[in-house]
Amino acid sequence: MKVLANDGISQSGVKALEEAGFEVSTTTVAQEQLINYINTNAISTLLVRSATTVRQDLIDACPSLKIIGRGGVGMDNIDVEYAKSKGLHVINTPAASSQSVAELVFAHLYGGVRFLHDSNRNMPLDGDSKFKALKKNYAKGIELRGKTIGIIGFGRIGREVAKIALGVGMKVIAADMFIENAEITLDFFDGQSVKFDIATQPLEDVLKQADFISLHVPAQKDYVIGKAQFDLMKDGVGIVNAARGGVIDEVALVDALESGKVAFAGLDTFENEPTPAVKVLMNGRVSLTPHIGAATNEAQDRIGTELAEQIKSILIND
Ligand SMILES: NC(=O)c1ccc[n+]([C@@H]2O[C@H](COP(=O)([O-])OP(=O)(O)OC[C@H]3O[C@@H](n4cnc5c(N)ncnc54)[C@H](O)[C@@H]3O)[C@@H](O)[C@H]2O)c1
Repeated sequence: MKVLANDGISQSGVKALEEAGFEVSTTTVAQEQLINYINTNAISTLLVRSATTVRQDLIDACPSLKIIGRGGVGMDNIDVEYAKSKGLHVINTPAASSQSVAELVFAHLYGGVRFLHDSNRNMPLDGDSKFKALKKNYAKGIELRGKTIGIIGFGRIGREVAKIALGVGMKVIAADMFIENAEITLDFFDGQSVKFDIATQPLEDVLKQADFISLHVPAQKDYVIGKAQFDLMKDGVGIVNAARGGVIDEVALVDALESGKVAFAGLDTFENEPTPAVKVLMNGRVSLTPHIGAATNEAQDRIGTELAEQIKSILIND
């Protein structure tokens, strides 16, 4: 049986599939050639990340397909319900990248409180001529320890963020539309573990109390954070969006950065991906990454091996 991993798959995923007897192709076939490639090669499993789209026309035109797999969480690029109605299995790996995203959130937070995003822009330009002036510019950093982080969306990634926050001595508060309570277990290297029970609070209360805010909600129709929500926040708050573009109103964010209401923002996701607004990209108070939350070797390995496990159990049991 043949698997096409059109947006790539980790080497460990390829290995797990090959050991189970699958033939794996990691060729990237152009979207318009995909139907032809799948039919010519009798592909039974099509694996994608976010680049390849799998719509009704492809599903209808490719009778050999049994599984569509998404390495990662969001399935916006797949007609999931339609595929299921045609008897296909649709799988993803929702938990594989949670820790990686959470670590990126802290990269933005630790960078933000010590101005690394700005310092990294200015040191190459002026580091040899204005060293002392730059040193003064970045002299008023703060620590995360002892501060309050407000986590909005307390699902898989939100809870991983909570674990790191608790580990570094922050107070954790959280808001979630559906979750009232979560038990967070911190596991340490020597086998010790500590449990925390965190009851979620109304969004407004979290916005008012938090020194830092991190968003972990799915894509939605309306902004979760717009002008009204920025107005509720503490002055000088830091905010991170590694969830989805469109969760924060970027126009309101730029205003809040310019007024000093928000001290810095860490953005991994943008309203207009893959062409984010220049006003956001050029703002010196924004720490920027190009949607790389899940892009660690460890997450990609987990994605690959989790997909391989699911494919094996579906096709071998079929
Ligand atoms: N940056 C990246 O590369 C990257 C990688 C993986 C996932 N993500 C994104 O991270 C987000 C969270 O992923 P997850 O795996 O934790 O999802 P999840 O489903 O486990 O958790 C999301 C939580 O948000 C809550 N929620 C939904 N709407 C809400 C709202 N308006 N206000 C408050 N809470 C709300 C839900 O009840 C749920 O508990 C998703 O948007 C996902 O696409 C980003």
